[in-house]
Amino acid sequence: MNILFISGSTRDGSLNKSLLDAAAKEARKLNHQTAILPDQLASFPLFHTEIEADPLIQDSLLVLRQQIEAADVILISSPEYNGFHTPHLHNLFTWVSRRAKGQSHSVLEGKIMGLLSAAPGQFGGVRMLPRLASFAADHGCWVHPRYVAVGGMASKTDENGQLTCSETTKKLRNLIDQLCQMATPARVAEPA
Ligand SMILES: Cc1cc2nc3c(=O)[nH]c(=O)nc-3n(C[C@H](O)[C@H](O)[C@H](O)COP(=O)(O)O)c2cc1C
Repeated sequence: MNILFISGSTRDGSLNKSLLDAAAKEARKLNHQTAILPDQLASFPLFHTEIEADPLIQDSLLVLRQQIEAADVILISSPEYNGFHTPHLHNLFTWVSRRAKGQSHSVLEGKIMGLLSAAPGQFGGVRMLPRLASFAADHGCWVHPRYVAVGGMASKTDENGQLTCSETTKKLRNLIDQLCQMATPARVAEPA
């Protein structure tokens, strides 16, 4: 399976980037192909219809759409900001929600998606995750109902930002496994 990893934070030293990196590592161990959306590709200007036609922006949007189209599964990790996902992630969804010329739906339609969140606080984004799930579902995504919310993330990583918590690693592996099962077309039994 091809899995695309998207962070809701572009901050250097982001806890959510650490969590995504750990998830990508587990996915590779399970023999999946991984791509982490680079910060520069995720950093669109604030959406506005008056700048939408800008050729430079459209070029970036084309690459972003191609990355999403190529993904069987998308895994997002976002910080919780006042109970919601970040403005950065919201902006990204807004850009991608716009259909490419000649297309009847956005590239997000029908995508299988898993949601993660990491925070220094003990709850790890639990208020935000169901809201993000509902938001993503409104964009046509099939969101896995089990989220991985990691509280106290700073104490679960080493000095290089590598995840050290085996329980969290196991949760990531289970979620990836289930998402990939969701993305596997059901086999129709051969007639006897
Ligand atoms: C504007 C703002 C709002 C925040 N609101 C919450 C919140 O509602 N819940 C929470 O657990 N942490 C909250 N935090 C703390 C973030 O979880 C923390 O900054 C986290 O490290 C951000 O993720 P990152 O490390 O991936 O950038 C907030 C931080 C900021 C800057």
